[in-house]
Amino acid sequence: MILEGKKILVCICGGIAAYKINHLIRDFVKKGAEVQALLTPAAEDFVSKLTISTLSKKPVYSQFYSENGTWNNHVELALWADVMLVAPCTANTLAKMVHGICDNLVIASYLSTKCPVFIAPAMDLDMYQHPSTKQNLELAEDYGHFIIPAETGELASGLIGQGRMAEPETIASEIEKFFNSSFSHQLHGKTVLITAGPTYEAIDPVRFIGNHSSGKMGFSLAEEASKRGAKVILITGPSAQITSNKNIEIHRVTSAKEMFDQVFKHYDQADIAIASAAVADYAPKEVAREKIKKNDDSLTIELVKNPDILKTMGERKTKQFLAGFALETENELENAKAKLIRKNLDMIVLNSLKDEGAGFKTATNKITILTPSEINEFPLKNKSEVAKDILDFIASQILK
Ligand code: C5P
Repeated sequence: MILEGKKILVCICGGIAAYKINHLIRDFVKKGAEVQALLTPAAEDFVSKLTISTLSKKPVYSQFYSENGTWNNHVELALWADVMLVAPCTANTLAKMVHGICDNLVIASYLSTKCPVFIAPAMDLDMYQHPSTKQNLELAEDYGHFIIPAETGELASGLIGQGRMAEPETIASEIEKFFNSSFSHQLHGKTVLITAGPTYEAIDPVRFIGNHSSGKMGFSLAEEASKRGAKVILITGPSAQITSNKNIEIHRVTSAKEMFDQVFKHYDQADIAIASAAVADYAPKEVAREKIKKNDDSLTIELVKNPDILKTMGERKTKQFLAGFALETENELENAKAKLIRKNLDMIVLNSLKDEGAGFKTATNKITILTPSEINEFPLKNKSEVAKDILDFIASQILK
């Protein structure tokens, strides 16, 4: 029984899907888990404390203070939990979580917790599709939380679309999957080195040569490797992406040369290295000390080749499983295969700019994974889903 003895903090928000949580709590308890339920103030209108406390065999809290005047210690509740589940997670609670608006017991507990957090959003069609919801879900993902996406179907409003909370069985199975040590320990004891983002090559004190890479793919890979129990060293160029995951050691650099130095400070420790950074191939030969003035009609900047970090990793490979990326616009498969061999890689992830939704800046990507002997195509997916496919593939290669 995977859930036997596991402590689950179930936070219920004020959404119509809250009625499904009774079944989920009953299921958790039947499987041997200890459940502590918390309600947001709005959830009290949707569920009965009596039902939930009977099912969970514990008092249910919704306020900082109980009626008898005792303080409901959110820090204790948060530290007690092995996992926290927020379900149904409303747009309101999601927004408060990711922005730290701490005006109720659920958010105070969330902000105090150190354990993995699962979020099962539920809201109406347009609320789910609103850019702010999308952005908040992305932020939650960046914080390393597990999102159990809403399903498509008929919604309480009568509209049909995505927004229904995942079924209790789906939520339970995601949490069971997490506790199943074959997944959460899959990369236990392994160190994964990841490069991410663009590099900026200075022209003068205010200008640089850069590219559109957002760093999203590399950060998603880092989160996913960490979820599988790996120690992660993430070396990223300038990127707005953030992580609060304590298992990810992050080094922020600017130029290709700085990235090179950081990579080779850590490369010997790595069991797996994934180069997802879009490293500038060339950098200005000289960096002007002062801002270059616009005097002439044309300006020539001499560029010199940057070190190829991945190629050097290939040359210095000892035990590392080495994965690179290739962004190609023509003869994709041939070029990617040639790069795989030239850089002495174990696999290469090809994304083509010709595929809509693939490549830089987008939240989605469409990849093909090549090894010296195999070609595997994957459909268009979110970058966090793509990260799962990439790590599933790497795990299947190194654990075979
Ligand atoms: O040769 P190309 O730049 O197309 O190869 C792309 C792959 O090589 C990516 O994995 C990228 O992170 C890596 N790379 C690197 N250092 C460079 C150029 C590319 O690590 N200077």
